[in-house]
Amino acid sequence: MKIVIGCDHAAPEYREMIKEELLAAGHEVIDLGVKAGEKADYPDVAEKAGRLVADGTCEKGILICGTGVGMSIAANKIPGVRAACCSDLSSARLCRAHNDANVLCFGQRIVGSEVAKELVEVFLRTPFEGGRHARRVDKIRALDGGRHDA
Ligand code: RB5
Repeated sequence: MKIVIGCDHAAPEYREMIKEELLAAGHEVIDLGVKAGEKADYPDVAEKAGRLVADGTCEKGILICGTGVGMSIAANKIPGVRAACCSDLSSARLCRAHNDANVLCFGQRIVGSEVAKELVEVFLRTPFEGGRHARRVDKIRALDGGRHDA
């Protein structure tokens, strides 16, 4: 899977850790940074990642900030993005199964490192269930003005 990953200055360690996990699992990774010591405003990173997911360049995105909340708010402004801020494994599974989320967000200041790795693993391996959920996700797409099909 081709995956874009990004963080702000609150989460370079987790971005690096998750990137290593993704590469070890055989994924292709586009790394938007930032490195430790660099400053970044999370909306800028979320926009870049969101556009790569919305235009189909990447199948999924992973965005990490202090809480995951700012990244998810910003990423969800991009039509075609369905970003979920998760700190538990059930949410990481159900945002895929029910919401067809294409961007996972979480916070380095909120979840432990082992939970962070498991969030990513569960998010990436859980398929969308479709069925009754497809109608609801179509309604989310309609809120985007139907301009994107990511
Ligand atoms: C940066 O200090 C922090 O505000 C940001 O990483 C994030 O938690 C915002 O949602």
